[in-house]
Amino acid sequence: MEAIILLGGPGAGKGTVSEFLKKQTDFVHVSTGDMLRAALQSGTPVGLEAKAFMDAGALVPDAIILRIIEERISREAASARYMFDGFPRTIDQAKGLDLLFKKKSGSLKHVFNLIVPREILLRRLTGRRVCKSCGAVYHLINIPPKKEGVCDVDGGELYQRADDSEDTILNRLEVYDKQTAPLIDFYRQQGLLRDIDAGGAAAVTDARILEVLNA
Ligand code: AP5
Repeated sequence: MEAIILLGGPGAGKGTVSEFLKKQTDFVHVSTGDMLRAALQSGTPVGLEAKAFMDAGALVPDAIILRIIEERISREAASARYMFDGFPRTIDQAKGLDLLFKKKSGSLKHVFNLIVPREILLRRLTGRRVCKSCGAVYHLINIPPKKEGVCDVDGGELYQRADDSEDTILNRLEVYDKQTAPLIDFYRQQGLLRDIDAGGAAAVTDARILEVLNA
C-alpha cells in the first residue's frame, strides 16, 4: 500500500485534480466527501449519521471516517496505490492513517498542499455545479458545461451541492482553519509536504502535481 494526500480548503480543487490524476496514474481515488454523499443518498446508517454534520459544514466524527476508510481499503489489492481526497482532515485522522500504514506495511509518499486565496475559494464554491448521475464537477464560469445545466459526459442534470450555500461555505472555511490546517505543519515536519500554488488554471495545477509525482 502506497498513498498520496490531496490537502486543501473547501474548493481548493482536490476533486478536480483527482479526476485528472485518475486518467494519468493508477492511483485509486478515495474521497471521503464522495463516500459520505453516496451513503447519504442510499440512506445507510453512516449516511444518516453524517447528514447533520455535513449540512452544517462541520466535520463528521473521526471514528466514522476511519471506519469507512479501513473498509474501503480492504476492498483493494494489498499493492494498491491511493490518492486520498479530503482525508485526513484532523490530526487524529492522520494518526489513524499512520496506524493503517503500519498494519498494511504501507507508506505515504507526498502530501500536496493546494494553496488558493480565500476569495478564489468562495468564487469557486458558489459557482460549482455537479452532475446528479455521474458526479462530474463544473463551474458556471471557469469550467462551464457545453449546454447550461446538462453534463457533457452523460447528459445528467447539474445541481448545486447543499453545503455550497454562502453561510455553510463560511463555516466550512472556519472548520478548515481550526481543524484541518494544523495538518500542514504535521506533514511538513515529516518532510512529506509539497506546497502547490493552486489558484490558477486547473491545467497548471495538474502539471505541477504531475511534475512532483514524476520526479
Ligand atoms: P468534501 O466533499 O471533501 O468537501 P471539501 O473539502 O469542502 O471540498 P470540496 O469538494 O468542496 O472542494 P474540492 O477541493 O474538491 O474542489 P473542486 O475540485 O470540487 O466534504 C464535504 C463534507 O463531508 C465536509 O464538510 C464534512 O462534513 C464531510 N467530510 C468529508 N471528508 C471528511 C473527513 N475526512 N472528516 C470529517 N468529515 C468529512 O472545485 C471546486 C470548484 O472550483 C468546482 O466548481 C471546480 O470546477 C472549480 N475549480 C477547481 N479547480 C479550478 C481551477 N484550477 N480553476 C478554476 N476553477 C476550478
